[in-house]
Amino acid sequence: MTRVIKVAALAGDGIGPEVVPIAVAVLRTALAEVGAALEVQEALVGGCAIDQAGEPLPEETLAACRAADAVLLGAVGGPQWEDRPMDQRPEKGLLGLRSNLELFANLRPALLFPPLAQASSLKPELVSGLDILIVRELTGGIYFGEPRGIFFEDNERVGVNTYKYAEHEIERIARVAFDLAAKRQGRLCSVDKANVLEATDLWREVVSGLADEYPQVALSHMYVDNAGMQLVRAPKQFDVMVTGNMFGDILSDVAAMLTGSLGMLPSASLAADGFGLYEPVHGSAPDIAGQDAANPLATVLSAAMMCRYSLDLPAVAARIEEAVDGVLRRGLRTADILGGGEQDGMEQIGTKAMGEALLAEIESGAEGAGS
Ligand code: IPM
Ligand code: MG
Repeated sequence: MTRVIKVAALAGDGIGPEVVPIAVAVLRTALAEVGAALEVQEALVGGCAIDQAGEPLPEETLAACRAADAVLLGAVGGPQWEDRPMDQRPEKGLLGLRSNLELFANLRPALLFPPLAQASSLKPELVSGLDILIVRELTGGIYFGEPRGIFFEDNERVGVNTYKYAEHEIERIARVAFDLAAKRQGRLCSVDKANVLEATDLWREVVSGLADEYPQVALSHMYVDNAGMQLVRAPKQFDVMVTGNMFGDILSDVAAMLTGSLGMLPSASLAADGFGLYEPVHGSAPDIAGQDAANPLATVLSAAMMCRYSLDLPAVAARIEEAVDGVLRRGLRTADILGGGEQDGMEQIGTKAMGEALLAEIESGAEGAGS
């Protein structure tokens, strides 16, 4: 019997509607190779949802996600919505998905693709072979802690946010990180600010308390300021990093930039049962939206992560990743990964052409396998 995979596709804003259809097409083709069918339900999130449905996360969108096996998201946000009150901004759509779907574990790989080594801002020897995985807690910490808001106090306004973590929240994200580290190089660095913030002192204590259960993992701890410095000084010292919501937001952007390939990096946001939302690390890039200039590869690689983490189809994930590798080896580049001008053997192409090249790559691979 044909396995039917249901995916909710939330293209969102900016370049989202250009890159998501490409990832869907690639996913559909790769799934067909293993005899699985893809059923896609499109839904609104972010600024387009504000414009068309009056709110960043309409109830139908949540329902579509809940009815799906996994969610593929493009990006949210843009300058036209920036002046709105906090709870009516596109970003609230994303934060609402994370909390409502309990996507507490955010996996952000920062991987240097060898053909793109010259695109990093660091010296090639510092980043060649770079392969870091940042595990960011995604449904707690200062992003969601109460009380929060802008209040009156002594005749002036004060802004308040609360950095709060319960033990069970720390433990479950730490276990995800220990498990992943055990399958990689066996090194886990937990990042906190335990010298100043009590909430992260507890973080360190809880993470340390689990170490005995994972003898195959070497656990270390680092203050977040030092971690930021070490990421740009000697990034290859890291294998897996685990940290809270806000530190993870910041460090994952730093790590992404090290690879010189922001347009290449996928991410997964997972719930306890393996359900997940998959999205590129980059944003909605309004400056290049609608110009056929966006790099669809991060979204395509997010679809590959979906196959691996939520659909239990590692061979399909590998097939998609090979196709990405294949088009890069053939010298095909969107503008962002061209590395400052066309070089020997490289060809600048647009978003759509990149999508077509990927499909051709998957189809030719399948013929090769069959003959
Ligand atoms: C991210 C983004 C989001 C975050 C924004 C868009 C709410 O920066 O996914 O890293 O801060 O988590
Ligand atoms: Mg961010």
